[in-house]
Amino acid sequence: METLIDLVNRLQKACTALGDFGDESSLPTLWDALPSIAVVGGQSSGKSSVLESIVGKDFLPRGSGIVTRRPLVLQLHKVEEGEEYAEFAHLPRKKFTEFAAVRKEISDETDRETGRTKQISSVPIYLSIYSPNVVNLTLIDLPGLTKVAVEGQSDNIVHDIENLVRSYIEKPNCIILAVSPANQDLATSDAIKISREVDPKGERTFGVLTKIDLMDQGTDAVDILEGNSCKLKFPWIGVVNRSQADINNNVDMISARKREREYFTNSPQYGHLANRMGSEHLGNVLSKHLGSVIKSRIPGIQSLISRTILDLETELSRLGKPVAVDSGGKLYLIMEICRAFDQTFKEHLDGIRPGGEKVY
Ligand code: GDP
Ligand code: NA
Ligand code: MG
Repeated sequence: METLIDLVNRLQKACTALGDFGDESSLPTLWDALPSIAVVGGQSSGKSSVLESIVGKDFLPRGSGIVTRRPLVLQLHKVEEGEEYAEFAHLPRKKFTEFAAVRKEISDETDRETGRTKQISSVPIYLSIYSPNVVNLTLIDLPGLTKVAVEGQSDNIVHDIENLVRSYIEKPNCIILAVSPANQDLATSDAIKISREVDPKGERTFGVLTKIDLMDQGTDAVDILEGNSCKLKFPWIGVVNRSQADINNNVDMISARKREREYFTNSPQYGHLANRMGSEHLGNVLSKHLGSVIKSRIPGIQSLISRTILDLETELSRLGKPVAVDSGGKLYLIMEICRAFDQTFKEHLDGIRPGGEKVY
């Protein structure tokens, strides 16, 4: 049976594909109702590194300063076998098998919208990755929060970025991945500050602590990781990503993950927490959590889908003969997709099929 996360991924894609018709139907509402995970934090806190290690691939533009200047909606699809590839919504028929080319396309597509400036844009880039080595997840990479504008940026940029980030994480269906570096005081963390604003009780915030390897000698993050100094509903997860030197020396993901695992297992301070630390654990926890959130939202999503089908029917009859008109053809397609989802959701809810328990 198709997993719930895959279903929602396809729905999100369908909503995106509808483009211009978005405002006239209930599709924007439907999009907002679909749970996803957004990564927030200060510039250079390690957001892109965390995303890359969850995916297990090098594919994100990086560097110091503001690199991520548009939201990146990243949909991970686990496939049983076959070659790994990536696909952008704005280049629907092009399969990327070289992940270096994915990185280049992300930065080219960013420049297409913003020019080669340091400005940001709220128009998202949609990227799907198909691989046997990923968990089913939708992750959104957002520009890093910053405290001051730099040369070439308008004075508003600090607030623009904050507002952009807030527009994603204030949605009740957004799961927040709040990334803070361990080598800075948690009390000054941009990630914690903004997620507290929208989720005061920490009910949909996962705290991720990066750069544990870079802490001052004699200090450690045990208090945070054990949940004593900043309480969230979910346990904190510590990670050790690749350093800039590792990246420059082309240390690959597989050895980086292995090293990360050894770091925690062999550490005198963190050994007792090792089984709930690291990027791999983070990916699994998130996938499982996203699956259960989707499951709990099925009734709501279903009724929205029914509304969407109605809206689309109205829209179609207004347009006249559907399939002849290109945009009408699209609407028709989405309606079919919605109907198919309606059916599959019902099956998930009823747990009709054997093996239906393992839905993530
Ligand atoms: P972003 O701006 O939040 O997306 O941060 P990046 O992922 O681009 O990371 C910024 C810099 O910090 C890069 O040079 C990374 O190599 C480095 N970095 C990120 N996480 C870690 C970590 O856990 N340990 C070490 N040593 N370096 C890290
Ligand atoms: Na950066
Ligand atoms: Mg980044």
